[in-house]
Amino acid sequence: MAVYTKILGTGHYVPERVVTNADLEKLMDTTDEWIQQRTGIQERRWIDKDTGASDLAKPAALKALEMAGLQAKDIDAIIFATLSPDYNFPGSGCLMTEHLGIPGTPALDIRNQCSGFVYGMQIADAWIRAGVYERVLFIGAEVHSTGLDVSTRGRDVSVIFGDGAGAVIFGKSESAEDGAILSTLVGADGAYAKDLMVEMPASRQIPRITKEGMDEGRHFPKMNGREVFKVAARKLPEAVVTALGKCGKTVADVDLFIPHQANLRISEAVQKALGLPDDRIYNNIMRYGNTTAASIPIALDECVRNGKLKRGQTLAVGAFGAGFTWGAAVIRF
Ligand code: ACO
Repeated sequence: MAVYTKILGTGHYVPERVVTNADLEKLMDTTDEWIQQRTGIQERRWIDKDTGASDLAKPAALKALEMAGLQAKDIDAIIFATLSPDYNFPGSGCLMTEHLGIPGTPALDIRNQCSGFVYGMQIADAWIRAGVYERVLFIGAEVHSTGLDVSTRGRDVSVIFGDGAGAVIFGKSESAEDGAILSTLVGADGAYAKDLMVEMPASRQIPRITKEGMDEGRHFPKMNGREVFKVAARKLPEAVVTALGKCGKTVADVDLFIPHQANLRISEAVQKALGLPDDRIYNNIMRYGNTTAASIPIALDECVRNGKLKRGQTLAVGAFGAGFTWGAAVIRF
């Protein structure tokens, strides 16, 4: 009998502190107009006290469990996607086993930046269909704000990123009609590593971090914005069309498309390339900024809770980010 993987529940959590573009105008030489015109972002959430990615993940995971009608002890494995883990090590997934009171549960941290959700979903799908685990908790969670250069020097990057967490519980489905991951596709190309990266601390340097490096701001993310834009606008639609083709579908079959919330202008370029009408794409970057691995699961949870995505509909997701990495997936919800 064929086994499929379906989404059992979703949840998200963002910190309460709202940081508007006007708030950023007080920290750096920028304007609300510049930020909105280039990125579509109006506000984002930033933590206001010591909080790790796993702390944001806990309420998101509890909401997903509640929707699924499950308890934490029902989870067989955790996949935690983040580029801003609580600590360099151990992984935030390990911390989740304590947050949720499920010691002994296997926890895998993955480092695929904005594409973390698609990479994680592919792993969860393979585990479930191979019979390794029955219920997998995926978490994408980020605390960017503590790692941004909020001076004018870092303005091109720091206005873009926000903090937040999204969670999705994947489980077994016995018929494709009842919900199924229909196809997943992921890729990576390290030739672009330097176009979006944080250079230090780095194990390849002795010492890993230096005062001079910090003075130069090399511990903050650096981005070649134009290159990111150019490659994302090409790779994302390509990945989505390929993922659709893998399960015999076309763009016309998609009820809802959720792109990674990198930048509203990238989403618009992808929408245009795919020829999707406005009511079949969902963007929320205006309110949260770019939350990398958390962005698709946060948007997905909003769509499930506000009725934009209903059982039986076809969902497509597409992601692109540092690495460069990319991915797309098609799901019958
Ligand atoms: N406020 C005001 N001015 C700014 C800001 C800011 N926050 N940031 C940069 N500028 C200035 C620059 O210094 C430059 O000034 P100059 O002409 O005097 O040198 C000017 O604005 C134009 O800079 P560009 O970098 O050429 O601006 P561009 O039009 O390319 O827009 C942006 C920059 C928004 C980053 C754009 O390249 C972009 O959207 N790239 C995609 C990157 C992205 O979305 N990344 C998301 C994260 S990665 C991911 O999730 C995939």
